[in-house]
Amino acid sequence: MARVRMASGFRWVSLLVQTTVWFSAVANAQDPPPAYLQTPTPQQLEWHRLEYYAFVHFGPNTFTNEEWGVSQSTPDVFNPTALDTDQWAKSFADAGMAGMILTAKHHDGMALWKTNSTTYQIGNGKWAKDRVSQGLSADVVQLAAASAKKYGIKFGIYLSPWDIHRDPAMPKPNLTSTIYDEPQIFGDDTPGDYNELYAQQLTELVTMQLDDVSPIEVSELWLDGNSGSDTVQTFNWTDFRNIIREYQPGAIMWGHQGVDARWVGNEDGVTVATNWHCISRTQDETHYSGEELQTGVRDGTYWTPAEADARIRDGWFYHSTEQPKTADVLMSMYLQSVGRSVNLLLDVPPDTTGQIVQGDVDVLLEFKAQRDAFFNRTLFTPEAAVTASSVRGGNDTLFGPANVLDGNSDTYWAMNADETIGWLEVDLGETHSIDAFITQEHIALGQRVGEYTIYGVVGGVYKTLVSGTSLGYKRIDRLSAPVQTSRVRISITQANATPLLNSFQVLGE
Ligand SMILES: *[C@@H]1O[C@H](CO)[C@@H](O)[C@H](O)[C@H]1NC(C)=O
Ligand SMILES: *[C@@H]1O[C@H](CO)[C@@H](O)[C@H](O)[C@H]1NC(C)=O
Ligand SMILES: *[C@@H]1O[C@H](CO)[C@@H](O)[C@H](O)[C@H]1NC(C)=O
Ligand SMILES: *[C@@H]1O[C@H](CO)[C@@H](O)[C@H](O)[C@H]1NC(C)=O
Ligand SMILES: *[C@@H]1O[C@H](CO)[C@@H](O)[C@H](O)[C@H]1NC(C)=O
Repeated sequence: MARVRMASGFRWVSLLVQTTVWFSAVANAQDPPPAYLQTPTPQQLEWHRLEYYAFVHFGPNTFTNEEWGVSQSTPDVFNPTALDTDQWAKSFADAGMAGMILTAKHHDGMALWKTNSTTYQIGNGKWAKDRVSQGLSADVVQLAAASAKKYGIKFGIYLSPWDIHRDPAMPKPNLTSTIYDEPQIFGDDTPGDYNELYAQQLTELVTMQLDDVSPIEVSELWLDGNSGSDTVQTFNWTDFRNIIREYQPGAIMWGHQGVDARWVGNEDGVTVATNWHCISRTQDETHYSGEELQTGVRDGTYWTPAEADARIRDGWFYHSTEQPKTADVLMSMYLQSVGRSVNLLLDVPPDTTGQIVQGDVDVLLEFKAQRDAFFNRTLFTPEAAVTASSVRGGNDTLFGPANVLDGNSDTYWAMNADETIGWLEVDLGETHSIDAFITQEHIALGQRVGEYTIYGVVGGVYKTLVSGTSLGYKRIDRLSAPVQTSRVRISITQANATPLLNSFQVLGE
C-alpha cells in the first residue's frame, strides 16, 4: 500500500517537473533572466568598476597640523609653497587609482574654491591673492578637477555637511569682528538657513567650469555624516540629491546610508567576509551601526553598496611625524575591501608644499607592482574547457559557461531557469599551482548568491578549497597555501534566485 502511494507520488512530481521545463523552455529560454529585486543604476554599475581611488585631504588643517581644525585660522593660513595638482593626478594615475576625491570644504568650513557663499575661503588669503595677481588660478578645486581630466582619472568632491564656521555651538573668538565673522546658521531651519547655504555651495561646485570652459565632471559627492557638536541640523538630502542629479547625472552621492553608496562602517579600509550591496534604510532614517553597514542587508530595499575609506598614514591630513603604511599592509587592505565587493577610497594627503610626498608615491607604486604581479597570473583563458551543471534554455551561445572566461562584463553563465544551485568546472588541461580565485556575479540583474564552494580536483577527488557566502560585484579568495590541481569547480550551494556568474578566474603558476 505504502509502495503504491509512493510510486504514484513520484509520477505526479515528475509530470510537474516536465511541464515546468517545457513551459520555461517555450516561454523564456532565450530571454535574459528577469532582474532580481534591487539592481544598480548604470551610474552605480560604473562606480563599482572603479574599485580603487584616492581621497585627498587638503586645507587649513594641512598648515596647522590638525585633523579637525575649529575654524580659528584666517585664510592666510592656506599657503602651499609649490602647489602642483598635476603631480597629484599623475601620481594617482601611475598608481592605478581610478580617480580622486578632494576636500573642497572640511569641517572647519574654509572653502577651497571661489565661492559667493562665504568670506571664509582661501581666495581671501595672501597665497591666493598673490597667485591671482600673477594671472594664476587660486581655485584649488578647479585646478584639481582640470588635473584629473588631464591624466584621465575621475574627480569627486567632499563637501562637509557639518560646518564649524557656521555652528553656534563652536566658539570662534579669533574671527570675531573680522570679515570672517558670519551668521551662525547651522542647526537653524528658517529661510536663509544652512540647507540653503549648503545647496548653494553644492550648486557652485557641480556647475563649475574648468579653465578651458568645459563643465566639471563629478564622479562622486562625498557627504560626510560626521559631527562633533551637539547642534542638530536636519539636512535636506532630497534637495541635495536633486541638485546633484540635475547637474551631474553621472555622479554617485555617498553618505552614511547613501543615497547611492554607503559607508562601510569603519575607517580601516576593510569589511567582514559577508557583504551585501543592499541596505533597507535611507539617509533620513536611524543610522545603522558600523557592523550593520559592513554586512548590509540581504535582499534589502535599496541598492546602496559600500565604500571603504582608509588612510595611507595615520591621519587624514598630512603630518610630518607620520609614516605611510607598507605595500604589504595596503595589499591586505585591498583584499579585504575590493576583494569583498567594496570600493577602496585611500587617503593620500598633500603636504604643506601642496604635493604628495615622494615616500607616499613610492609606496603607492610598490603596491601597484604587487597587485599587478598578483593579478597577472590568470590561468583561465577564453579557450579553456569549461562545463556546467546546466545552461539556461540549453543555449550555450547566450548563457553558456564559457561566458565567465570571455572578459566581457555583459555576458554571464546562467543555469536553467528553475534552478538555484549548480556548478561550473574548468579543466586547465595540465596541473598548475593555484592560490587565488576571482569570482564576479552579474550584478546588473541583482545580487543572488548566498553560499558557494570552490573545489580543486586533487588526486581524483574534489577537495574543498574555499567556502564563502556573498559574492556580489567581485570576490577575491586567496588560499593560505598553493594547491596543485588541473581542474577547478565552483558550486553555488545557495541562491535566492538563479545565480548568474559574470566571471570566474584562477590565479597561479
Ligand atoms: C587664535 O588666536 C590666538 C591668540 O591670538 C593665537 O595664539 C592662535 O594661534 C590663533 N589660532 C589660530 C588657529 O590661528
Ligand atoms: C557670484 O556672484 C557674481 C555677482 O553676482 C556672479 O556674477 C557670479 O556668477 C557668481 N558666481 C557664482 C559661482 O555663483
Ligand atoms: C527640501 O528642499 C526641497 C527642494 O528644494 C523643498 O521643496 C522642500 O520643502 C525642502 N524640505 C524641507 C524640509 O525644507
Ligand atoms: C602582465 O604581464 C605582461 C607581460 O609580462 C605585461 O606586458 C603586462 O603589462 C602585465 N599586466 C599587468 C596588469 O601587470
Ligand atoms: C541561442 O540563441 C540565439 C539568439 O537568440 C539563437 O540565434 C540560437 O539559435 C540559439 N541557439 C540554440 C542552440 O538554441
